[in-house]
Amino acid sequence: MPASHPNRLIATLPLQRGASVPLFRQLYAAIKAAILDGRMSPGMQLPPTRDFCRLLAVSRQTVLNAYALLTTEGYLDGAVGRGTFVSVDVPLSAPVPATAPGLLRPLSARGQGVVAAMRQVAFHRGPLRAFRVGMPRIDHFPFDVWNRLEARRWRRPDHHFGYSDPAGYLPLRELLCVYLKASRGVQCTPQQIVITSGSQQALFLLSTILLAPGESAWMESPGYRGASGPLRAAGARVFPVPVDAQGLDVAYGVAHCPQAKLAYVTPSHQMPLGVSMSLPRRLALLAWAAHNKAWVVEDDYDSEYRYSGAPLASLQSLDRAGCVVYVGTLSKVLFPGLRLGYMVAPPALAEALVHAKAVMDRHTAIVPQMALADFIAEGHFGRHIRRTRDSNAERRDLLVRGISRELDDQLACGPADSGLELCAYFRGGHDEEAVARAGLARGIELRPLGHYADPAAGPECATPPGLLLGFAAIPPAEMAHGLQELGRILRGR
Ligand SMILES: Cc1ncc(COP(=O)(O)O)c(C=O)c1O
Repeated sequence: MPASHPNRLIATLPLQRGASVPLFRQLYAAIKAAILDGRMSPGMQLPPTRDFCRLLAVSRQTVLNAYALLTTEGYLDGAVGRGTFVSVDVPLSAPVPATAPGLLRPLSARGQGVVAAMRQVAFHRGPLRAFRVGMPRIDHFPFDVWNRLEARRWRRPDHHFGYSDPAGYLPLRELLCVYLKASRGVQCTPQQIVITSGSQQALFLLSTILLAPGESAWMESPGYRGASGPLRAAGARVFPVPVDAQGLDVAYGVAHCPQAKLAYVTPSHQMPLGVSMSLPRRLALLAWAAHNKAWVVEDDYDSEYRYSGAPLASLQSLDRAGCVVYVGTLSKVLFPGLRLGYMVAPPALAEALVHAKAVMDRHTAIVPQMALADFIAEGHFGRHIRRTRDSNAERRDLLVRGISRELDDQLACGPADSGLELCAYFRGGHDEEAVARAGLARGIELRPLGHYADPAAGPECATPPGLLLGFAAIPPAEMAHGLQELGRILRGR
């Protein structure tokens, strides 16, 4: 029998008995592959099913099922009494050579920019441990209540379960509007709010539609890489502006990059240094933006958690020129996996953002939006914030006291009046990266402050070496363990 004889070919088709994929599916895939790579050519007659069964020791039904599928998809032609043939409509092509793993051809220049923009960002996965940053206390979340609220919505699907408003679920936007006015002094109407998949999507949409490639954007340095990533992905020139005890150094930005078209800031609680922006700086930033027709993106990611003094009013509440876009998230106040956030934009920009949002993903999943609206309307949201704020404050105290008791000779704490994490500076000349590596080897996460530095930034942006330590999600025993290990690392034991 020559090698190309159909029977020889059939006998060598790879089938795995006992695998989770049924035999007829395996047979279908094997014949299809043989046709596509040219081992079975158009017009070739397949053996009668009884031969097929014998050659492969499979049942007739298996062969018939595979033939039926291949015929439906156009690979085989058959007629009762005439036999089964490889369809002549399958175009004759040279066998496609197997390619090495990897990309068939390079990404577009823009694609490369998008990928590079976030490639270096460390994502936290796996079980929680001291001192993971960016994590709220998840075990405080009333999952039973959320479950009940979602279940109620699933039981009564309505027209919103079709394609709905790209701006987001209107009752949720109305409730957020009231909440943001009361808690942050944000001035808006529900029409100015766009619900997003976390604030990350808001930052991406804003960077994409507000900046042309090559235009400059001010970025706090050190600063949140989740924000510089989208700016870079949009092709913007990220201009690092130093941060001091009063927040972003506006005068530096004005002196060195006055032409920027956007400024990204975390005025309530600077990420990662924890300072809040002083009123003179806020006013200077708004004056520069209004004068230069630049946008200000205010990322107010964790302002719900302020432990002393009155909550700070938002930058947006001071904006008279319509230049501030306020970005918020439910990741810190509820939990990050929910992927819900929002932006509040001046009316005309909000309209444009709604269109951009529709281009990106039509709209955010509706049921979590509905459940969140019910969660707020029924008072659970306010209760959860109050309860979690108390718990966070306790854990913040534990960490600050633990450092002053056990590590006072090693670490100096930064501002500790809000947020979920604490910035701690080395008193000795430690190498941040070496400390972080030693931490991982001992099972704790120590985020070096250098992680937030822009490598292109000048010496004006340099911050003293230190760590960002998450506390809100860390149970007391784990925190005590973490402090002990950190002490050993810093003392070289
Ligand atoms: C400055 C800042 N903004 C926003 C976020 C939240 O991002 P998202 O809403 O995409 O979860 C974080 C999370 O760590 C953050 O640090």
